[in-house]
Amino acid sequence: MLVKARSVTGRIGVLVLAGLALCRAAAAADNEPLRALADRDNFRIGTAVAISPFWADQTYRATLARQFNIIVAENAFKWSQIHPVPDSYSFGKADDLVDFARANGMMIRGHTLIWHNQLADWVSSGSYDREAAIALMRDHIRTVVGRYEGRVTAWDVVNEALDDSGALRADSFWYRTIGPDYIALALEFAHEADPAAKLYYNDYGAEGMNPKSDAVYALVRDLKAEGVPIDGVGWQMHVVNGFRIGREHAENAERLAALGLELTITELDVRIRLPATEAALDRQAETYGDIGAFCLAQANCAALLTWGFTDRYSWIPGFFAGYGDALIFDADYHPKPAYSALHAALEASRE
Ligand code: G3I
Repeated sequence: MLVKARSVTGRIGVLVLAGLALCRAAAAADNEPLRALADRDNFRIGTAVAISPFWADQTYRATLARQFNIIVAENAFKWSQIHPVPDSYSFGKADDLVDFARANGMMIRGHTLIWHNQLADWVSSGSYDREAAIALMRDHIRTVVGRYEGRVTAWDVVNEALDDSGALRADSFWYRTIGPDYIALALEFAHEADPAAKLYYNDYGAEGMNPKSDAVYALVRDLKAEGVPIDGVGWQMHVVNGFRIGREHAENAERLAALGLELTITELDVRIRLPATEAALDRQAETYGDIGAFCLAQANCAALLTWGFTDRYSWIPGFFAGYGDALIFDADYHPKPAYSALHAALEASRE
């Protein structure tokens, strides 16, 4: 009985110690935000910002400022939002985000200048010959990049020009009106408007070694060979729970590095089939930790941004029925296991 009592006490002791360790870990996580760890490593850890909660939700803003040292607008810089009518721009949302970033010592990426999606109706429904479409593109890029010169330090100049097979999207407004050299032209115009900005090609499904990443590689290799200004490739990484980094990701990153290109993980989220179990959340943490450690270890991986940070606001449930809980804070802003895994990856990279 005595022995049993001792062992129960012992087990309670172990549990108390484990509990204390967890509390300490939680406290450490709370005291040392992601950005503090990233700053020490000269690393950029960030997130996309949705304008409605940014304006309306104080907890959203406070968490943003506390945890991240780089942001990107989820929608505010897209053509339909920033240039909704032919003769005037609507800079209010983008300006607010740029001002917030500067006030909080954050970098800001610009997403995106040239995309077939979220283009203003007045553009897609208009009729343009090649020269008129080039003039339209030049004016837009010069105006938007020029306005934020020196403040927006990296741009997703062209987004998703390739389809899932790796072919140029022939139904894109830009391909139809200008032809395949629209990508090079967009990069040239962006470089003219801000020679110091890092210029990116951004896409999804091209992270591992596959036909699409081969096509992205061939595209950027040819651009480099032609002397077109390009600095990096964005890997969106909207992945499904269970995703793991493999040798192929390092191989792909290294072939980009060999071209002198950097890489940014631009839109990471890890969607879970709902309802999420504890085991699923732990699995998701492994994915976040894995991707964080990969980017930190890969010399040309400049930054990691998630596509939102709280499950309260995420594009996933609206686009993937039955999926959600894809981000690192839950809907009540509590850090999830995924947050702790990212935190641990940042801590480990300093050791
Ligand atoms: O602006 C209109 C508003 O006027 C209207 O009242 C409202 C009604 O639904 O819609 C608003 O537009 C929505 C827009 O987001 C801004 O909130 C669109 O319906 C909605 O489709 C759009 O979704 C965005 C999506 O891109 C469009 O493809 C998501 O928020 C955004 O997260 C998502 O982001 C993309 C990246 O830019 C590129 N990579 C993939 C990623 C996920 O799709």
